[in-house]
Amino acid sequence: MTNVATDYTWTAAFTAVFVMVFGVYWFSRSKKQYNLPPGPKGWPFVGMLYKLGDTPHIQFMEMAKKFGNVFSMKVGTQRVIVLNGYKAVTEALVDNNSIFSERPDAWTLKRVKDGDGIVSRNADHVWKERRTFMGTQLRDFTKRSLEATIHEEAEMLCEALGATNCKPVDCSHLLRYAIINVIGIFIFGERWEYSDTAFKKILEENDVKQTRAREDNVDLNDPRDYTEALVGEQFRNHGVRQSSTFKELKNVKETATSSVSELFRTATDPTYTALRWALVYSVKHPEIQEKIHNEIVDVIGTSRRATINDYDSMPFTQAAIMEAMRMVAPLSLAPPHSNTKDCKIGGYDIPKDSYVLPNFHSVHMDPEFWENPEKYDPSRFIGPDGKLRNKVAFMAFGRGHRKCPGENIARCQLFLFFTSFIQRFRFELAEDAAALKSKTGMSLINKPADHKIRCIPRT
Ligand code: HEM
Repeated sequence: MTNVATDYTWTAAFTAVFVMVFGVYWFSRSKKQYNLPPGPKGWPFVGMLYKLGDTPHIQFMEMAKKFGNVFSMKVGTQRVIVLNGYKAVTEALVDNNSIFSERPDAWTLKRVKDGDGIVSRNADHVWKERRTFMGTQLRDFTKRSLEATIHEEAEMLCEALGATNCKPVDCSHLLRYAIINVIGIFIFGERWEYSDTAFKKILEENDVKQTRAREDNVDLNDPRDYTEALVGEQFRNHGVRQSSTFKELKNVKETATSSVSELFRTATDPTYTALRWALVYSVKHPEIQEKIHNEIVDVIGTSRRATINDYDSMPFTQAAIMEAMRMVAPLSLAPPHSNTKDCKIGGYDIPKDSYVLPNFHSVHMDPEFWENPEKYDPSRFIGPDGKLRNKVAFMAFGRGHRKCPGENIARCQLFLFFTSFIQRFRFELAEDAAALKSKTGMSLINKPADHKIRCIPRT
């Protein structure tokens, strides 16, 4: 009996030692398997979070000087891989487009809080359907009423700017109202009066979820706006009819409301921010503002409103807007991407399901693609033939399958609003250069610091 017990003890001890030794060997092998990008060592639990500050995209460029354009670090307990410069970002988002179209799990959980639409969804068939559906709706809206909507809003906005009587004002809220109203017409078929209390609530909460959730009267065959079209589409996709149970109808409507809520923020924040930066740069560079004004007067005069057809005849105005977006991309960092397979970027291994942050700002400052990247110079977007030229390293709207589907409507808004401002006013900075500083924080949107300008009517 004692011998049997001893045998068992020996066998158990041997097995335990074998499992431990094999475990350590296997663990160390599997750790070594990946040649992960190097990076800074952060603090326990917070990682490098404490270092990122208001402008993480700039901090990342600093870190890239030390660790290279592809580096990794912990943010909190999350390992994040940061891609800097044209080559690394293109290798992921263009050359390995289909692998890098996912969003990381940690981020898609945001849906619960911020809305379940397109941005925060993984690249599944629902995402694909929603993107296609939105693209069709945006094209219809552009054809039907975009130009007229912007003209009407630009009128109100210029009236409000004129009413400031050349006094120093922070007009950022007025630009925001205008952009929100254009998107409001697309999504809800209505604009808000600037004094409307419901509008104030939307501005405070930066959300439309509570205020404009369409709960009834959806005519599937004749949608009046994006929200109704979306609910109709969801009814059809889910095989739900008006006669379905209350629960089925409720689920579909909740998803549509959540989708709309996400789109509202995705569409308004970067557009109004880009418009603010275009204005800030024209104020900082009065000689360029005059050049834009001269082009406007040459092409459309002092009273006719610009149309989308004037776009090609006004390359310098376009170039000034694009250069402002190059200097400060509204989304300097892409929303996080993730990869469906192990792959290599910049010679390093990127394990499947990584949390990857492409830094668009670093692409816009890449000296291999831009001469004097720190200098604001719209002429870099003008070709030798005097026409606007696109640049491969301009990535304000992203790249690959996740590229912004609202690019055309955003460009249209920026062009028509900006042209109407510069046609009617001369803008002067009322304070010092502080306005050129940006602040991003963890919101991803790269806003200018608060500043005041004077809007002086051109007679
Ligand atoms: C100047 C204005 C805008 C800029 C600079 C901008 C930029 C971007 C960027 C950088 C992305 C992320 C790409 C990525 O994940 O790698 C994005 C995504 C997106 N944008 Fe825009 N955007 C603008 C306006 C708009 C507008 C007006 C709309 C809609 C009407 C819109 C709808 C979206 C949507 C739905 C996504 C998510 C795409 C996806 O994840 O598949 N954006 N945008």
